[in-house]
Amino acid sequence: MSERVKEITMDIVEATRDVLRKHNVTFPEYRAGFMHLAKTQQAGEIPLLIDVFFNSTVVDIENKTRKGSRAAIQGPYFVEDAPLVDGQLAIRDEDNDQPRMVMRGKVKGTDGQPVAGAVIDVWHSTPEGRYSGIAKHGEIDKKYYRGKITTDANGNYECYSILPVPYQIPNKGPTGQLLEEYMGGHSWRPAHIHYWVHADGLRDVISQAYFEGDQYIENDSCNGGGSEFMVAEAYDGDVRVMEVNFELEPAAAKMQAAE
Ligand code: DHB
Ligand code: FE
Repeated sequence: MSERVKEITMDIVEATRDVLRKHNVTFPEYRAGFMHLAKTQQAGEIPLLIDVFFNSTVVDIENKTRKGSRAAIQGPYFVEDAPLVDGQLAIRDEDNDQPRMVMRGKVKGTDGQPVAGAVIDVWHSTPEGRYSGIAKHGEIDKKYYRGKITTDANGNYECYSILPVPYQIPNKGPTGQLLEEYMGGHSWRPAHIHYWVHADGLRDVISQAYFEGDQYIENDSCNGGGSEFMVAEAYDGDVRVMEVNFELEPAAAKMQAAE
C-alpha cells in the first residue's frame, strides 16, 4: 500500500470525473473514448500518447528543483552505448550533400568554473526524421548521428554533423488520429538536437536545442519547452552554429531536492 499512489490515483479519478460532468459526456461518448484508448493500447502507443501530453509537465516539475541549465524532454530515442566521438558525428554516405551544423559551447558549474571531461551525449534524427539504433526506424547503425562528446581542459566542446529537420512523431496510429483528425492539430516537432550532459560530482541534465526560424518551436506537438531552448541563427561560413552552454549544479543538490 502506498499513500502517494492512492492519493495521486484518486486525484486523477476526481479530475476526470470533473471533466465528464463539465461536458455532460454521454454514454456513447464515454464508450468511444475508452475504445480509442483500447485501440491506442493495441497499437502499442500508450507510451507515445502519455509522453505527448504529460512528459513536458513532469520536466517542468523537475526544473523547479534545478539551478543552472533547465531540463527538456528526453524523447524515446536515447541509446545507452553511443560511440565516443571526436569532433564529428558519423554521417551516412547518402547524406553527404546535406547542410552542416556545428554543435559547440562550454560546460560550467553553477560556481562558474569550467568543467573539463564532461561527457555530452548528443543525438538527432536523419533528414527523413528517423533515429539510428532504433529497430522500428529501420536499424540504421547507431554510429550515425549520435555520440558522446567530451569537454576539453577549458570545458569547451565542438562537434560537426548534418542539420536536423523538423520531425514528425509516429502519426499513422491512434495517437496521430487523435492529434490530427479528431483535434485538428499536427504531429510535428521543431528540428532539434538532444543532449544529456554528465560530469563527475555534478547533477546531469537532459536538454534539447531548437533552430531559430523553425515554425514548430512554439507549436510543438510534444510541448518541448519552446523558445527557452532556441538558439539564435548563426553561421560559420555555410555551417549553422548551434552554440549551447550548460551550467551544472552540484549533484548533492539533487538529493536535497528529492527529500
Ligand atoms: C518523440 C520523438 C522525439 O525525437 C522527441 O524528441 C520527442 C518525442 C516521439 O516520437 O514521441
Ligand atoms: Fe527527438
